[in-house]
Amino acid sequence: LASIRVDVSGVQPGTQLTVLWQGKPVFIRARTEAEIAEAREVDVDSLPDPVAQNENLAGAALATDENRALDETGTWLVQMGVCTHLGCVPLGEQGDFGGWFCPCHGSHYDTAGRIRKGPAPRNLPIPVAEFVDETTIKLG
Ligand code: FES
Repeated sequence: LASIRVDVSGVQPGTQLTVLWQGKPVFIRARTEAEIAEAREVDVDSLPDPVAQNENLAGAALATDENRALDETGTWLVQMGVCTHLGCVPLGEQGDFGGWFCPCHGSHYDTAGRIRKGPAPRNLPIPVAEFVDETTIKLG
C-alpha cells in the first residue's frame, strides 16, 4: 500500500487536519488536554465497541484511549474519517460526546473516535501511522 507523509506542524491543539489517503479522508487531530482527559475517563466495558480498531496494535487490543492515540501524551489521534455504519464522513467537534457526529443516521463518536451512540457498529478505524520526525506523520 502506498504511504504518504503529512506535515502536521501547523495543526494546533483543538484542530484537525483532513487529508485524503487511498481515496478516503483521514482525520489527524491534535487534541486538547480536556479532550484527552474526557476520553481517558471512560470505562472501556461501557463502550459499544470495546476493541481499539487500531491497525498499529496486534489482535483485539482494548479501546482504551491510550490504545487509540498515536503518541504517548495522547495529543495525536489519527483515524479514518469514514463512519462505520454506511460510510459517511462524520463532522468534527459535534455530537453528544464532543468528538464526531455522523449526520447521515446519527452516530455519535467520542473524543477518541469511539462509537458511543447511534447505529454505527465500530469505532472509527485507525490506519497504520507513525511519526517519522517531530512534525511528520507517515500514513501506511
Ligand atoms: Fe454514519 Fe449511518 S453512515 S450513521
